[in-house]
Amino acid sequence: MDRHDLSRAPELLHTARLTLHAPRPEFGPLFVESLNRSLPGLRYICWAQKARDANWGVDFMSKGRDYVAAGEDLIYCAFERQPAGSSALGAYVGRIDLHSWDFSVPRCEIGYVGDVLSAGRGLMREAALACVQLAFDLGAVRVQALSEAGNTRALHFAQHALGFTREGELRHYERDAQGRLGTQVMFAAIKAEAPPLKRAEPGLA
Ligand SMILES: CC(C)(COP(=O)(O)OP(=O)(O)OC[C@H]1O[C@@H](n2cnc3c(N)ncnc32)[C@H](O)[C@@H]1OP(=O)(O)O)[C@@H](O)C(=O)NCCC(=O)NCCS
Repeated sequence: MDRHDLSRAPELLHTARLTLHAPRPEFGPLFVESLNRSLPGLRYICWAQKARDANWGVDFMSKGRDYVAAGEDLIYCAFERQPAGSSALGAYVGRIDLHSWDFSVPRCEIGYVGDVLSAGRGLMREAALACVQLAFDLGAVRVQALSEAGNTRALHFAQHALGFTREGELRHYERDAQGRLGTQVMFAAIKAEAPPLKRAEPGLA
C-alpha cells in the first residue's frame, strides 16, 4: 500500500443516512458555521480554539483537498443523505479524517469532529465506521484513535460507538491544544485476519 492507493480512494461514500464528500473549497463556509456553533465541545481540537471566518474555511478545505490529492490523508465531510435525484447538500454532520499513515504496516489514525446540531443520533458513528471500512478495503490492517484522557465523550465514542479496543495510555506523548503535556488513550480496530489457507491433511489426497 502507498500514497497512490489513497489518492485513488472514492470522492464520495454513501451510508444509510449520509453522503460523505472529499473536501471541496465550497464546503468552507458551511464547515465554519458548524465549527463556530460547536466550539464549546471542541476544546481538544487544536484547529478549533476560536471562531473562524468563511475565508479560513475555504482555505482549510482547499488544503484538505490538496492533502488528499497528494495521498497524505483521506478526509471526508459528512452530510445527511438527500432523496434520490436531489443535487442539494443535506445538513452538515461532521468531518472524518484518516491520517498519520504508516504504509509499511499499513495503518492509520482516525479523527472525527461532529456538528453539535446532529450529535447523539449515531451519524458520526455511521460516518466513522464507513471510513474505517474504507481504510481496511484499501489495505490497512489497523485503524487507531488517540484521545486525550480528559476527552470523555471521545473515549466513550471510540470504545462504545465504534467498538474499538482500548489498548492503553501514552503519557507525555504529545501536547494538547493549549500546549500542555498530558495523557492520551490509544484505541484501535484490527482488520479481521483472513482464515489460514487450508492444507491437505497427511494421508488424504
Ligand atoms: C466524538 C464525537 C465525534 C461523537 O459525536 P456524536 O454525534 O456524539 O456521535 P454519535 O451520535 O454517532 O455517537 C453514537 C451515540 O449515538 C447513539 N445513537 C443514536 N442513534 C443511533 C443509531 N441510529 N445508530 C447507532 N447509534 C446511535 C449511540 O448509542 C451513541 O450513544 P451514547 O454515546 O449515548 O452511547 C463528538 O462528540 C465530537 O465531535 N466531539 C468533539 C471533537 C472531538 O473531541 N473529537 C475527538 C478527537 S480525539
